[in-house]
Amino acid sequence: MEQYIVKGGVPLVGEVEISGAKNAALAIVAAAIMTDDKVVIDNLPDVRDINVLLQAIEGIGAKVVHRTENCVEIDSSSIHSVTVDYEYIKKIRASYYLLGALLGKFNKAEVALPGGCNIGSRPIDQHIKGFKALGATVDIEHGMIMTSADELIGNHIYMDVVSVGATINVMLAAALAQGSTILENAAKEPHVVDVANMLNSMGANIKGAGTDVIRIKGVEKLHGTEYSVIPDQIEAGTFMFAAAATKGNVLVKNVIPKHLEAITAKLLEIGCCIEEYDDAVRVIGPDQLKSTHVKTLPYPGFPTDMQPQIAVTLGLSSGISIVTESIFENRFKYVDELARMGANVKVEGNTAIITGVDKYLGARISAPDLRAGAALVIAGLAAEGFTVIDDIVYIQRGYEKFEDKLTALGAHIERISTEHEAQKFRLKVG
Ligand code: UD1
Repeated sequence: MEQYIVKGGVPLVGEVEISGAKNAALAIVAAAIMTDDKVVIDNLPDVRDINVLLQAIEGIGAKVVHRTENCVEIDSSSIHSVTVDYEYIKKIRASYYLLGALLGKFNKAEVALPGGCNIGSRPIDQHIKGFKALGATVDIEHGMIMTSADELIGNHIYMDVVSVGATINVMLAAALAQGSTILENAAKEPHVVDVANMLNSMGANIKGAGTDVIRIKGVEKLHGTEYSVIPDQIEAGTFMFAAAATKGNVLVKNVIPKHLEAITAKLLEIGCCIEEYDDAVRVIGPDQLKSTHVKTLPYPGFPTDMQPQIAVTLGLSSGISIVTESIFENRFKYVDELARMGANVKVEGNTAIITGVDKYLGARISAPDLRAGAALVIAGLAAEGFTVIDDIVYIQRGYEKFEDKLTALGAHIERISTEHEAQKFRLKVG
């Protein structure tokens, strides 16, 4: 099992290039199978979730050719099945986008119930509600979601909760439905907009993405396109908080600063200096971080996917911070690991009360999920001494070349598989 070993205490300094947004790319790869023409996707992050999804579409007959590490050509004219195996799906939750894509294209889809990060119960009732509203039947049998329709017909759909996944899934299916769909209380995340833009570039007629009412006029068919995925706002935010927690100075490049507003606002509140450019943001960490309060909310609020990273950083601030998680019910599992590094955090329900400490001390810890795993790496980078992080497979799901990018910023971090490699690292960095 691979681990990260980190020797902390080094401020991160330099420049880092942000990859394409994993969560946008997952839906964009699914959308690509909705045409028989060739689709080229650029700025695709080379991360495990994306690679599993590419294998899943190959499994049903699509042809995937890598032009480069971050650019693929997808030819779906040879898809011969609408049944997507559990083997792929258990690994990635967003495989459910194949439901909307296959239902839209073939009026039928069978996809295993999703797996993914273990951050609390994650119902898909709103996805199902949307498909049913478009005239599909939906059944769950033997761990598979089966949906089909004689024809999909546009409808007026009100989402009971703001859900990124359900918004995108219904948008995918409705793009090829007959007539118009109005989706109310839609999610407004940048990746919802990116998927709508990509579908429009394939000939779809989607308006209003990025607001809470999305209007989709179904079209008869979609055509090929070449599309570049937006930068990953969560990867960018992770490096921004890593700069803050290590008292570093990092220029985070290839970002859309507008997508990072909630993150930069909090970094300013805790005493960081921020410089914004057209497609880059510089974060300079202060000698002493200040405490603050934060509550996760749907976009444009503070993202739940940044909650562990800000909490780890606030653990090193002066004073008491309160972090409230309002999207997922079980997203504080990393707190026990952080406590092993000396953090003072008390969790009450969906709230973490964080009393800042002067420093973290390196320890052996394990990543409980993707974003918390990245946050614990930040803790290791800021800590005194050596930290060994287990279960980094979670981190590899969503961060491209994470250790390489950190090393380029001066961090002492290595991916290791044996105790011998750990010893070598310890000798090397002293
Ligand atoms: C996506 C992101 C994930 C992020 C989350 C919230 C992807 C692949 N993943 O997940 O990284 O943390 O958005 O920004 O893009 N809900 C329901 N019924 C549903 C669907 C959702 O009750 O049918 C609830 C969920 O339990 C949760 C909330 O709605 O409390 C938001 O979930 P949602 O936006 O759907 O998250 P995902 O799309 O799964």
